[in-house]
Amino acid sequence: MAINGTQNGVPALETRGLHLHFKTSKGVIHAVDNVDLKLEKGRTTVILGESGCGKSSLARAILRLLPNNVARYDGQVLLGGNELMQLSDEQYRTTVRWTKASLVPQAAMNSLNPVMKIAAQIAEPLYVHKIARSRRDAMRRVREVLKLVGIPEDFLGRYPFEFSGGMQQRAAIAMALVAGPEVVILDEPTSALDLLTQANIMNTLKQIKWELGITFILITHDISTSSELADDIGIMYAAWLVERARADDFFADPLHPYSRMLLDSVPRLHEVKEPEAIPGAPPDLLHPPGGCRFAPRCPRRFEKCGVEPPLFEPRPGTGVKCWLYEP
Ligand SMILES: Nc1ncnc2c1ncn2[C@@H]1O[C@H](COP(=O)(O)OP(=O)(O)OP(=O)(O)O)[C@@H](O)[C@H]1O
Ligand SMILES: [Mg+2]
Repeated sequence: MAINGTQNGVPALETRGLHLHFKTSKGVIHAVDNVDLKLEKGRTTVILGESGCGKSSLARAILRLLPNNVARYDGQVLLGGNELMQLSDEQYRTTVRWTKASLVPQAAMNSLNPVMKIAAQIAEPLYVHKIARSRRDAMRRVREVLKLVGIPEDFLGRYPFEFSGGMQQRAAIAMALVAGPEVVILDEPTSALDLLTQANIMNTLKQIKWELGITFILITHDISTSSELADDIGIMYAAWLVERARADDFFADPLHPYSRMLLDSVPRLHEVKEPEAIPGAPPDLLHPPGGCRFAPRCPRRFEKCGVEPPLFEPRPGTGVKCWLYEP
């Protein structure tokens, strides 16, 4: 399958009506509902939302990394305009994962194999996909990515436990990059690290984006560390993508009532205004309310909110799932 993310006007990645639900002993959890995401090539989209709103599940749904208790998984995932849902799992594994799209999982440091040297782990996707013709070839590529992510070359022969948390995270990023994917999803890449290490890794990501033109999805619940890297923003609430926008527009003028309240809830250095908590709690994803899921907490709700709104496009490149923006 030819995947060409460089065609003009074709998003690097797009989802249409993407759903992912899980079976549990209490019933079915709606983790991702009806998500329409659109990523332009070479841009970084930061996905923000409260804990449990479905950010990691969205990453799993995009990359088809599914647990075995899936109750519903459907919709469209297009990479460079090519529909991935039609691929068999085998085709997906051999033609997409690692080579076209990859994931740095949440708590990636725990996902490294403790008894395998770092160089061998980073090289693994190259062997699995027969990208490297020889060990020497593989090591050349591993050295390249190590440099890219800021791991000194003499760390090659070390084991993960000999790495600091920040270095382990860099190793996980190197592994996601090694096979040359076009889209990389980073799930909370720095949340377990101290502030200085976070900032250093964010800088490295910025550099990588600049050098390689990779399309990143950066999942986080920390608005402040992400705002510097974001070209675009996606806001999730209760398994929905409620707003997507250019980052500049978003921070100047967030559209969805939830986005506004979310921004107001963040303490800012140079603001006189006190941060305001959002009253109420997000809905239970076992029984999400009908109609707009934010309506029970929304100060601007009106009759229409009893029906699920579509994603309106009040300005180009923007989407907002709210009846206030019905043309
Ligand atoms: N394998 C699973 N089986 C059952 N429920 C799951 C599974 N994975 C996630 N969930 C549930 O799906 C919902 C969304 O979870 P998800 O991990 O995607 O949220 P998140 O936004 O990534 O949260 P966090 O910010 O805490 O990482 C939650 O209610 C969670 O408990
Ligand atoms: Mg998560």
